[in-house]
Amino acid sequence: MGNFLKKDFFLDHDIPCFKLNDKSTKKVTEFYKISPFPNYKDTDDKSTILEKGNKNLLAVQFKKNIGYQKNVLEVGCGTGQLSIYFSIGTNNNIVGLDPTIDSLKLAHKFSKKNRINNINFVNADIFDDVLADSFFDFIWCSGVLHHTKDPYGAFKIIIKSLKKDGYLLIGLYNKIGRIRTMIRKFLYKLFGIHVLNILDPTLKNLKKDSEERKAWIRDQYIHPIESLHTLDEVLEWFNKNNIDYVNSIPSCDFEGQNKNLFIKESKGTFYSRVVNQISMIFNSLGSDGGLFVVIGKKNG
Ligand SMILES: C[S@@+](CC[C@H](N)C(=O)[O-])C[C@H]1O[C@@H](n2cnc3c(N)ncnc32)[C@H](O)[C@@H]1O
Repeated sequence: MGNFLKKDFFLDHDIPCFKLNDKSTKKVTEFYKISPFPNYKDTDDKSTILEKGNKNLLAVQFKKNIGYQKNVLEVGCGTGQLSIYFSIGTNNNIVGLDPTIDSLKLAHKFSKKNRINNINFVNADIFDDVLADSFFDFIWCSGVLHHTKDPYGAFKIIIKSLKKDGYLLIGLYNKIGRIRTMIRKFLYKLFGIHVLNILDPTLKNLKKDSEERKAWIRDQYIHPIESLHTLDEVLEWFNKNNIDYVNSIPSCDFEGQNKNLFIKESKGTFYSRVVNQISMIFNSLGSDGGLFVVIGKKNG
């Protein structure tokens, strides 16, 4: 793989590292150090990660559309499970970037143990802007920007490393679609954990006292930095930065099919976008944390 880093680094456990300077990113890394997200089970191997990835329909579509011999970046990869999923069975070059070294050490250990060689991890903060310009064909950044001090600033840095005609997927907490979680968060502060055991649908599917459960509660309800966004906000980010809107979940338009997220759909109207975001409250997107996803293609 060519050099995907444009700045000097030092190595820790063979992982290229950059010294963290930013106060809010340090706060976030302290948070994930306690409960790396998502964690590995002792029984995890290539086949369980593949199986887990194949249950994530969005990840399946993304991987299928990547094809072969591409440079792929996951920003905020945490413990690298998704990056590893993207690398298994392909000749693509995958890079996973995250500021939490403890999470990356788990990712690195797993990939070495399972002899996955087409993957590299980088310990860096988005704001340090360490990635080579116009290098990646595909970028996945989901569940990350809303945990930074400046989501739009972070977005502008990320897209520098995307090639022309390259695709970008971003996933953010939705201002409307996350209402159910915000209500649970408020009740949790008042009444404690019992409320979550009853009201959080994701927790119902996770084993009691499991690490996954603890990581989910911390991530959803006690994160130190969190912001909420809308489809219109992201469309404006795209507009200002020469990124063409391709598709989204939920759709921007009433006619949206979401069958193949790499096929261009209409942006709809302000009204259709608001209605589709309201509908998140009542479907699985809203019950699962209110994350919405937008895909764009770099145009220049
Ligand atoms: C909720 S986790 C999501 C992990 C993974 N993307 C997923 O969806 O499972 C948020 C991740 O964003 C990373 N993150 C937070 N601030 C960041 C920053 N400034 N630069 C890069 N990554 C960051 C955290 O370290 C953490 O791994």
